[in-house]
Amino acid sequence: MQRVLITGANRGLGLEFTRQFLERGECVFACCRNPEAAVRLGELKSVYRKQLEIVEMDVSDFESIRRSHEVVKTHTGVIDILINNAGVYSIYGSKEPSEHLGTLRFEDALKVFRINAVAPIIVVQEYLDLLVASSGAKIVGISTGYASLSLNTKGFPYYYSASKAAMNMFMRSLSVEVKKWGITAVLLDPGWVQTDMGGPGAPLTPKQSVEGMIRVIDAIKPEQSGCFLNWRGETVPW
Ligand SMILES: NC(=O)c1ccc[n+]([C@@H]2O[C@H](COP(=O)([O-])OP(=O)(O)OC[C@H]3O[C@@H](n4cnc5c(N)ncnc54)[C@H](OP(=O)(O)O)[C@@H]3O)[C@@H](O)[C@H]2O)c1
Repeated sequence: MQRVLITGANRGLGLEFTRQFLERGECVFACCRNPEAAVRLGELKSVYRKQLEIVEMDVSDFESIRRSHEVVKTHTGVIDILINNAGVYSIYGSKEPSEHLGTLRFEDALKVFRINAVAPIIVVQEYLDLLVASSGAKIVGISTGYASLSLNTKGFPYYYSASKAAMNMFMRSLSVEVKKWGITAVLLDPGWVQTDMGGPGAPLTPKQSVEGMIRVIDAIKPEQSGCFLNWRGETVPW
């Protein structure tokens, strides 16, 4: 049984990761901003009482991350897989960004960067003791094809794509620093998926995308640390 911590676990890909890890018998710490409102996590809790803990964490708030760590530590001394999944597409959360020249604002850009780029590395920092305690922990950053500089020929949304590219660089640097503890860090592009963010027209269901990503996570080797792969395990160009 592995101990898995997932951010943004109340809906979309985070919820599907939670469901699939529970189904195969793992112990899951499902983190979300508002556990009381997380109805679907509550339903899973009634089935997987012993395997699932729902933990409050707003990834944009340092104190919230720190408090979540205190809570998780009362249940386990080890995290084997940390999935930095929480993310926003725009300052409106999952909604389509409408950024273009003339509307760009420091505050808006930094809000998206705070959640998508900086939060993942702070979460790792605050959970480092539990990751080091695992024999070969894996850290997963949920990235996107929009983070690829070389694929951007059409003009991706400014804040989202740049913030995810920044997360990629944070994770790449992290992958070097955590090697000494036997920790592997990987970036995964889930594909275009039917969630609030992806919308109903996306070609992939959360089930398909997450099944693929879990296969990739299971197969990842320490020597691949720092790589950027899609849900099928194929390399995504930087
Ligand atoms: N769907 C796609 O096609 C697609 C493609 C490429 C990459 N991705 C990436 O996949 C990840 C999951 O996306 P999704 O499609 O599942 O999106 P989603 O349905 O919009 O879900 C986003 C999740 O992130 C959480 N979140 C946002 N801000 C947060 C914060 N400050 N603290 C904690 N949680 C926060 C949301 O919680 P609340 O309910 O509290 O807002 C929600 O659980 C994201 O990182 C996204 O960029 C998605």
